[in-house]
Amino acid sequence: MNVMVAGGAGYIGSHAVKQLIEAGHRVVAVDNLYRGHVEAVHPEAVFCEIALADTPSLTRVLREQEIDCVMHFAALAYVGESVTDPLSYYENNTAGTVSLLQAMDAAGVKRLVFSSTCATYGEPEATPIVETMRQEPINPYGWSKWCVERVLKDYGAADRQFAYVALRYFNVAGCAADGSLGEDHDPETHLIPRLLLAALEKVDKLTIFGTDYPTPDGTCIRDYIHVEDLCAAHIVAMNALQPGDGRFYNLGIGKGYSVREVLEAAAGVTDVKIPVAYGPRRPGDPAILFANAEKIRNELGWTARYTEISEIVATAWNWLKDHPDGYGG
Ligand code: UFG
Repeated sequence: MNVMVAGGAGYIGSHAVKQLIEAGHRVVAVDNLYRGHVEAVHPEAVFCEIALADTPSLTRVLREQEIDCVMHFAALAYVGESVTDPLSYYENNTAGTVSLLQAMDAAGVKRLVFSSTCATYGEPEATPIVETMRQEPINPYGWSKWCVERVLKDYGAADRQFAYVALRYFNVAGCAADGSLGEDHDPETHLIPRLLLAALEKVDKLTIFGTDYPTPDGTCIRDYIHVEDLCAAHIVAMNALQPGDGRFYNLGIGKGYSVREVLEAAAGVTDVKIPVAYGPRRPGDPAILFANAEKIRNELGWTARYTEISEIVATAWNWLKDHPDGYGG
């Protein structure tokens, strides 16, 4: 298939480009390079520097490259930033996706795999989270993705040839097992890379945000899904799409690890006693988030191969220890 990957120079998008090419697809990676890295784009992909807002350029590329399906990863994804700068989140994540859909409509491209988020559930009514639970985000990031899910439902109802699947991610982690791709965010806020940067002495310590949560060890529990498992799910979902489909799936491993458990795994993998400080809770962090991912397993046969946190952390370390300054290093 000819696949356009929007956000193809980002952390998850670059892994998807690689996996699609290895699966025999032709890939056009589109990215505005605001937070992506052109070095992360697979050399066999066609690369186009285009912003999501640029509907005419997207339309041209979709037509010229005879694209069959779009995988859409291009998004701003910092919860804290979304609270202080909500307009950028609605502009990029919501309006940007509408622009992409307009381009797809104009070019007659009828298949979309959309990166949504578990943040659309907000404070979950129960865990593990199933797809039918109440969706009530607690920050603009979650709402900006929730809005896209709403748009997809309405557009899908209006065009019965259009097929989409929205994948609600939990905590994406790890890097390509062959060490060719990594996670390079600026700023880096995520737990696993920050632990590893502390092991490398690139940050002075890891602050644990809250030790008084109602969990066995007092720290937050999250569902860490390996980026390669996540991308594999996208390809499975893409292959399953039939005209008129509108599907929603959670992507997680179905169990959670606490911040302390992730810290122990990182210390074991790196063989470094990582310096730790204990701080207050970070606003907006629910105590426990993990997925019920049975729906995609039952319907499409996908399950995560990585379920041990130490294995996930080891793949992240594999890249970061050789690229302590990221792609620019
Ligand atoms: N944490 C720390 N110290 C740090 C960084 C994180 O203790 O320096 C803790 C957080 O409080 C949280 C856990 O580690 O309990 C994981 O935090 P991350 O920042 O790695 O990930 P989040 O769970 O905050 O974010 C993820 C996705 C977001 C998504 C969000 C939904 O990265 O895109 O889940 O809740 F919006």
